[in-house]
Amino acid sequence: MRILFSATATKAAPWVSGLQAALPEAEVAEWAPGAPQADHAVVWAPPQQLLDEQPALQGLFNIGAGVDALMKLRIPPQTRVVRLDDAGMSVQMAEFVCHAVIRHFRELDAYEQDIAQGRWSYRKPRLRSEFTIGIMGLGVLGARVAQALQQFEFPVLGWSRSPKALPGVRCYAGQAQFGDFLAASRVLVCLLPLTPDTENILDRDTLGRLPAGGYLINVARGAHLVEADLLALLDSGHLAGATIDVLREEPPPAAHPFWRHPKIALTPHTSARTLREESIAQIAGKIRAMARGEPVAGVVDRSRGY
Ligand code: NAP
Ligand code: GLV
Repeated sequence: MRILFSATATKAAPWVSGLQAALPEAEVAEWAPGAPQADHAVVWAPPQQLLDEQPALQGLFNIGAGVDALMKLRIPPQTRVVRLDDAGMSVQMAEFVCHAVIRHFRELDAYEQDIAQGRWSYRKPRLRSEFTIGIMGLGVLGARVAQALQQFEFPVLGWSRSPKALPGVRCYAGQAQFGDFLAASRVLVCLLPLTPDTENILDRDTLGRLPAGGYLINVARGAHLVEADLLALLDSGHLAGATIDVLREEPPPAAHPFWRHPKIALTPHTSARTLREESIAQIAGKIRAMARGEPVAGVVDRSRGY
């Protein structure tokens, strides 16, 4: 069995040696143009040339949860596209979103500013029952975030494409229930995949339907958000602030307004990182399961785009 590895902005050597150690029966190599035909490829945003040269791939394993970059490529029809299925990501996403919610709810940013200016002052505690958190996307990551937020006794809502039932979460589904979901969400967390249906979904209309004083946490993809619309709603005071982990252009240009906006907490696409060892173990397990003809979790439905 031959396995190729190709990932932009990621050192190949530790992945190649890790995959080789996990699959000693296979021959693992970094992809280069003209590489011999392989059975599987392990990738992040690979060049189109790799897919054009490898028409017989059985599995295309994405070393992340989001497959939007892969969905832009021409992939051989029989190749199964397989996403990372948690692999240590959901606990990171849960801690990141809980931190962002709590930082805003407890006004820790304002306390930090007060302390920096030598002020020992108190703010009136906010009502937790008024801090309803709405999660867009109730998949692998969204469901875990919903579970984690409930530990802090925030009311939690969720919105997905198909109807869901999650313990303790008021679930909404589809366009018909989107407005009710937004109107009830004081904090909006985006954990949707980026697809033609969800691109630009965080626009003036959507964000404007949050209650006054609403807060946005975008940890999904930069192209979900119309950045100018967020800025306008922050400037008008309709939104209180935002935590932004993903941008259309990463890193953003030096002049991008999000770098220094007083109401935006910006992080460099780090809310849930790919953990190499967990990911290699998961991918190796799936490659072996496929070789035995067994089904594997995390196969992307290409017609849906996630
Ligand atoms: P997932 O398991 O595929 O779940 C996606 C959820 O979104 C599902 O509940 C799905 O509904 C819902 N959804 C999809 N299209 C929708 C639509 N048009 N309307 C309403 N709901 C829709 O994805 P995941 O693993 O939770 O990951 C979500 C995204 O997080 C990834 O695609 C990636 O872009 C992003 N991510 C970011 C980071 C980071 O570091 N910032 C790290 C990892 C992932 P159904 O349940 O009905 O299918
Ligand atoms: C990271 O953004 C991922 O999709 O895994």
